[in-house]
Amino acid sequence: MKTSYAILRKAALEFGTPLYVYDQSVIEAQCAKLKSHFPQVEIYYACKANSNPALLKILRSNGIGIEAVSAGELDAAKAAGFPKQAISFTSSSITKEELKDAAVRAGRVHIDSLTQLEAWGKGKMGGEVSLRLNQGIGAGHHSHVITGGPDSKFGITLKDIDKAKRIAKKHGLTITGLEQHIGSNVLDARTFLRAAKVLIDTCAFFPSVTHLDFGGGLGIPYSPNETDLDIERLGTGLTRLIETFNAGSKTPVTFGMEPGRFLVAESGTLLVSVTDLKETSKHQFVGVNSGLNHLIRPALYNSYHRIENISRLKGKTVSATVVGNICESGDVFGRNRTLVQPQVGDILAIHTAGAYGMSMASEYNRRVLPKEVLITPKGLKNISYR
Ligand code: LLP
Repeated sequence: MKTSYAILRKAALEFGTPLYVYDQSVIEAQCAKLKSHFPQVEIYYACKANSNPALLKILRSNGIGIEAVSAGELDAAKAAGFPKQAISFTSSSITKEELKDAAVRAGRVHIDSLTQLEAWGKGKMGGEVSLRLNQGIGAGHHSHVITGGPDSKFGITLKDIDKAKRIAKKHGLTITGLEQHIGSNVLDARTFLRAAKVLIDTCAFFPSVTHLDFGGGLGIPYSPNETDLDIERLGTGLTRLIETFNAGSKTPVTFGMEPGRFLVAESGTLLVSVTDLKETSKHQFVGVNSGLNHLIRPALYNSYHRIENISRLKGKTVSATVVGNICESGDVFGRNRTLVQPQVGDILAIHTAGAYGMSMASEYNRRVLPKEVLITPKGLKNISYR
């Protein structure tokens, strides 16, 4: 599903640029996809992807839960109306005060380390715990987002499982949950399924477990060369794993998943205006009124976001390097992109920017944040909140 150029142009005209535009119908379609392909899995939206209150409300009203990593995200979840039991919490390197706050406000907390587990027991934060495991399986679009294996700071490694059990016993805690998250933007269903199977197998060593969470990481295609995650294959495979597990399990177990990007990335477009054109011996630079402060993914991960000149859909094309207005040479949205020859004042659409765009935006160089607009069935709605 593609947001129409006419609506994007209208949004830019009405609200100005830089502007994040989100399409409600795309978010709802993604919710429906997950619900139909994973009927036995509770979905907790990883709101670090985008915690705009209006988007959170759409997700909640589509029957999705929420995953939070900080007090701020717990506040956002509460404000959007998520009940405690629909909130899960996973975080690393936090204080015992933060952990206690999460224990009070989230329905389930996945413990990231032995230190957290001790704090949970000593602080009497609850009789039951869930452990986040690092089983050595990692995947993702960039080393920064691979969260399994020895280079990752996340989770309790397999060598520490016995220690974790001893700590739990010492404090009279029952381990009722296991969670893992292998990394972000996984496009191969087989990788996700392989990791899910390992989590299910590990469950055999935890007879008191009643909930398994497979984490997030479901990928979406950013560039035309990438193919969609085969969600049907993933759904069928996961359902089969769950059914086989349930058939052999004495206690009923519930299942969860924490996708962030998959639900919102494709709904979002960053609209920017062309402010400058410059040629060097190597590049035809197209300067725009935004930058890595508003969408850091290209600079941070070398991520690809499709760029189009939506003011001119036809005409002579150029190979352009689209750059921002931030004082850094790495402030590049895309290199050697084929664009219909831009003129100063044209609007460029930077696509697939709904996840980890605005949520990672800053005021670097003392520049203000973009506004945010939602395309609803009733028209455009200003949903800016920062
Ligand atoms: N669960 C846990 C424990 C996580 O750490 C994450 C993401 C998710 C779920 C959701 O992952 P997703 O489904 O969105 O891939 N800023 C990076 C992504 C960082 C992801 C961090 N953790 C990016 O722009 O690609």
